[in-house]
Amino acid sequence: MTTLRLKQGPAATRVLGVGSYQPERRVTNDELSKIMETTDQWIRDRVGIIERRFAEKDELLVDMAVTAGHNALADAGVEASEVDTVIVPNCTMPSPIPNAAAQVADRIGVKAAGAFDLNAACAGFCYGLGVASDLIRSGSAGKVLVIGAEKLTDVVDPVDRANAIIFADGAGAAVVGPSDEPGIGPVAWGSAGDLVDTIYMREHRFIYQEGQSVFRWATTQIAPIAFRALELAGLEPSDVDVLIPHQANLRIVEAIAKKLRAKGAREDMLVADDIRYSGNTSSASIPMALDHMRKAGTVKSGDVVLMVGFGAGLSYAGQVVICP
Ligand SMILES: CC(C)(COP(=O)(O)OP(=O)(O)OC[C@H]1O[C@@H](n2cnc3c(N)ncnc32)[C@H](O)[C@@H]1OP(=O)(O)O)[C@@H](O)C(=O)NCCC(=O)NCCS
Repeated sequence: MTTLRLKQGPAATRVLGVGSYQPERRVTNDELSKIMETTDQWIRDRVGIIERRFAEKDELLVDMAVTAGHNALADAGVEASEVDTVIVPNCTMPSPIPNAAAQVADRIGVKAAGAFDLNAACAGFCYGLGVASDLIRSGSAGKVLVIGAEKLTDVVDPVDRANAIIFADGAGAAVVGPSDEPGIGPVAWGSAGDLVDTIYMREHRFIYQEGQSVFRWATTQIAPIAFRALELAGLEPSDVDVLIPHQANLRIVEAIAKKLRAKGAREDMLVADDIRYSGNTSSASIPMALDHMRKAGTVKSGDVVLMVGFGAGLSYAGQVVICP
């Protein structure tokens, strides 16, 4: 019988560096209130957003991904030539083909990369990180660039007050590579396809969501995924230094943090609130929040970071990461 040879990678992986990119244009709540019936106070109270960034017409998802990818490589001190795989989690490419990843890899200088997009909506980055880590551990990849990038302004009706106040544009990236010590815990992921109709894009490609249903789901079903990610990594809630839930709504973020604290997470656990100045950037929100917190000096190397993403599908994923 013929036996195939298999590859075997290193036992452990870690995040080697992170980077992000946001468009220049800041959009305040007051600016939005001039084109739709809303107020700065309503948005701050109900969603927690103070301002967000919108890309210009000619600034594409791929452009934002390239800059975030470059920034992550610089942070990691890794050359593009050392990377062999590029994953771009996103749900807002203008059309299904071509994908973003091959173009992004080419423009960053990753030659003949394994390159693919991954769509798990706002859970995309955590899915991508899990896949990257396992690709390396299986020997299929050496170093992987994972870039969550979204141009949500392309898929939101600009005067739909239910969505236009929430979603924004940007990209966040991580370089993943082999490690002596485990720096990325096992991914806890799953889906609830029976709730598919609660978030989707209509024929003309505008996002529709049943806000209250999604809110209820996120505030009740996502903390258990965070607990599962901790359990898989062999950690307790009290071990978490930093909690980064997908930045969908500050009230959802706070509800997840409250549930973790009720089960032993520390009062001084840092909770990401990047949504306040970035809005909801879907698959970019988690790496972007981590990058901003590291730059602000609130998160330091070695911190235990618990990430959990959730969104359309409905899809969810989370894991523990040791901050680079
Ligand atoms: C979308 C979301 C912010 C809406 O907030 P909400 O508190 O649920 O608001 P509701 O839809 O219940 O609306 C409450 C009232 O505010 C009004 N309203 C809705 N949007 C408004 C806006 N932008 N400005 C002012 N008023 C608004 C509604 O018409 C409603 O008015 P009524 O009571 O007179 O009927 C919130 O439901 C949410 O964040 N959901 C989850 C989103 C999410 O996580 N998505 C998945 C990940 S991408």
